[in-house]
Amino acid sequence: MKEFIFYNPTQIVFGENQTKNIGRYLRNKKCLFLYGGTSIKQNGIYNKVMDSLKKNNVAFVEKSGVKPNPVLSFVYEAIELAKKENIDCIIAAGGGSVIDSAKTIAAGFYYDGDVWDFFIDKAQIKQALPIYVVLTLAATASEMNSGAVITNEKTKQKFNIRGDALFPKISILDPTNTYTVPKNHVANGSVDAIVHLLEGYFTKKYLSTPIQDGFVETLVKTIISSTKQILKEPENYDARANFMWSATLALNGLTTAGIGAYAFPNHMMGHSISALFDIAHGSTLSIVFPAWLKYNKDNLSQRLQRFGKEVFGIDNPDKAIEGLESFFASIGAPTKLKDVGLAQTDIEAIAQNAVSLAQKWGLNEYTKEKIASILKFAL
Ligand code: NZQ
Ligand code: ZN
Repeated sequence: MKEFIFYNPTQIVFGENQTKNIGRYLRNKKCLFLYGGTSIKQNGIYNKVMDSLKKNNVAFVEKSGVKPNPVLSFVYEAIELAKKENIDCIIAAGGGSVIDSAKTIAAGFYYDGDVWDFFIDKAQIKQALPIYVVLTLAATASEMNSGAVITNEKTKQKFNIRGDALFPKISILDPTNTYTVPKNHVANGSVDAIVHLLEGYFTKKYLSTPIQDGFVETLVKTIISSTKQILKEPENYDARANFMWSATLALNGLTTAGIGAYAFPNHMMGHSISALFDIAHGSTLSIVFPAWLKYNKDNLSQRLQRFGKEVFGIDNPDKAIEGLESFFASIGAPTKLKDVGLAQTDIEAIAQNAVSLAQKWGLNEYTKEKIASILKFAL
């Protein structure tokens, strides 16, 4: 086991009927109530949160309109509103896009400069407003980690921030809140959580980590089986619950603690596709990840052999890649660039855009040429 520090202060409140308790944690506070489009009004989560806030005399201002692949211009507006209203906490009711926007607003609230400075490593986050999450979509684990990803529409950069101050204080994980998540977003979430687990599993150099390998394999198997159940039966509580908790554990630091150095090259390439073409995060990963595995097949043959055996019960690296790619296709996730309307002629721009994030993340071996060669496996 490699040396590590594991720090995760987020309190998880898990289970049915927990949403109505959100207000109890917020008495005597003035909150920014942040959400996306219309989904929380349609499925009743909005009313549950409102009732709880009123019952507990919580003061709040509302701000809706976070879009998937959340953007910097919206964050600027919300920071201005938060400062004007002098709020002292943020309620984020949504998926990764709402939570990531909340984290960025929370950091920007205490910063006099441009909040984008944090994303380009020009400034470090020292302080942030406390964030309270009502999770409505299981995918990113933003509800239990310290990261956020935002797109700067002007520069076409989809970049991330991190900081201990960004861990949500409390996250309510009520699986019934995800019953209405449409099939395409179930698929996106499933792919995202699986790739969070497998980026570390396939890029770590240090191999004597049976606990972490076992966590990853169990979580991937659980995500695969619960995704299949959810697609057949959207209101299956156990399937939604197992899926939700797996997705949270997939990127809360647990599975990477002790594995030594690892990298997230597929996220680097996926973020470039989202930045340029506004394609959902999970859909970029179901295209890029099988391509990356094929490109690296020879170096990864031992790991692929183990992965194939543990997850799919097959003993062959090629078949392991095939198994994962056909699972993605079977749940309706795109696996080729053409599935999202992209072609060979787009590869150059994607690779060019990805290089700046590769450099930010210290992935210096990912040159424009190498990224283009990987993406050709997705044609
Ligand atoms: O906007 P509304 O109307 O709420 O609809 C949303 C949105 O259109 C809908 N939705 C959410 N909950 C629902 C629901 N529809 C019906 N019923 C519900 N209960 O789902 C759509 C997608 O939501 P979004 O928040 O964008 O999805 P997700 O949770 O996958 O978040 C994706 C974003 O998170 C980033 C991604 O890059 C992307 O920008 N990530 C954040 C990470 C982090 N902070 O740790 C890590 C990830 O790797 C990822 O990069
Ligand atoms: Zn992801």
